[in-house]
Amino acid sequence: MKKYCVAVVGAMGAVGREMLKTLEQRGFPVSEIRPLDIEANAGKKVLYEGREATVGVAAKGAFVDVDIALFSAGADASLVLAPIAAAEGAVVVDNSSQWRMDPEVPLVVPEVNPDALDGHKGIIANPNCSTIQMLVALKPIHDAYKIKRIVVATYQAVSGTGAAAIAELAAQAEQFAKGEPMTAKVYPRQILFNALPHIDVFLDNGYTKEEMKMVNETHKILDPAISVSPTAVRIPVFRGHSEAINIETERPMDLADVRRLLAAAPGVKVVDDPAKLAYPTALDADGKDEVFVGRLRLDPTVPNGLNMWVVGDNLRKGAALNAVQIAEVLARKGLEPKAR
Ligand SMILES: NC(=O)c1ccc[n+]([C@@H]2O[C@H](COP(=O)([O-])OP(=O)(O)OC[C@H]3O[C@@H](n4cnc5c(N)ncnc54)[C@H](OP(=O)(O)O)[C@@H]3O)[C@@H](O)[C@H]2O)c1
Repeated sequence: MKKYCVAVVGAMGAVGREMLKTLEQRGFPVSEIRPLDIEANAGKKVLYEGREATVGVAAKGAFVDVDIALFSAGADASLVLAPIAAAEGAVVVDNSSQWRMDPEVPLVVPEVNPDALDGHKGIIANPNCSTIQMLVALKPIHDAYKIKRIVVATYQAVSGTGAAAIAELAAQAEQFAKGEPMTAKVYPRQILFNALPHIDVFLDNGYTKEEMKMVNETHKILDPAISVSPTAVRIPVFRGHSEAINIETERPMDLADVRRLLAAAPGVKVVDDPAKLAYPTALDADGKDEVFVGRLRLDPTVPNGLNMWVVGDNLRKGAALNAVQIAEVLARKGLEPKAR
């Protein structure tokens, strides 16, 4: 079996660490693992397959002989380093928002649009975490009933902001327990015991950038004809994004059929038995690969409407797992980098 030299850029971050874990857990055929990060982290060690690997600096020259470079170091790093990595011969799978809407760059959820990878030019984008889990759950319904409109409210974990935000929520919990005043640096307000209707920056249209990512990425990946009306909210959960989704479809939906379609869909697990208090929560999704769907019910207030509750691990399917699955599809299809 062919093995690949894999670089992980941003290896010391929340997603980077999860990428290393995911590659290992899924048995991706790795000949060499190359963890890369900023200079200040160079020389640190990460464990991969029981052996220590030394963190190098993500810079020109670091991608020579790399087959696949999984990026999770933020948009600024991706802007500069992804073209360098591609020019040095790696196929880049980028987790940041930097390249997602570039018409030359495929934006891929393997369960939804794997064929978009064909003809890639060396950089492939991983969608936003909230978009990924929403589209994994909606794809089978769209195929059968054609979705016209989505109204979605997200309940997003702090790990979606990165390692510093995880530390901030933990610190505020400790400060609360000790009766000390709470300090907030990553978020503009206290996140503990709170809900912030503010993820990423506010745009001129009154929506946040996170909300517009859900609109634009849904159009690029699933269907430009779907109207998307989003509200993105940060809540004091460490890991796992939840979403209340309302859809309207062209054709009338049969609830039993929707359940069957979802149960058979790749990457989806239906947990929906209210009588037994069975519904998905962020804690249930922690560390899991699937996108969990529950609270399925027709919406009687519109002609063809459905309400659902969708939960996924943002670090896993929302980031690391989706990137590794893209690498798996590339390996299966034998898609080579352009520079070779
Ligand atoms: N967290 C999620 O759920 C999620 C989901 C989807 C996509 N993403 C995207 O993935 C990226 C990383 O997110 P994260 O949550 O892992 O953030 P994070 O925990 O802050 O980790 C980012 C890592 O990259 C390093 N880094 C920063 N600039 C770099 C550079 N120029 N070269 C190499 N390494 C650099 C950081 O070092 P320092 O911290 O020392 O600066 C840190 O180790 C972001 O673009 C984010 O939008 C995150």
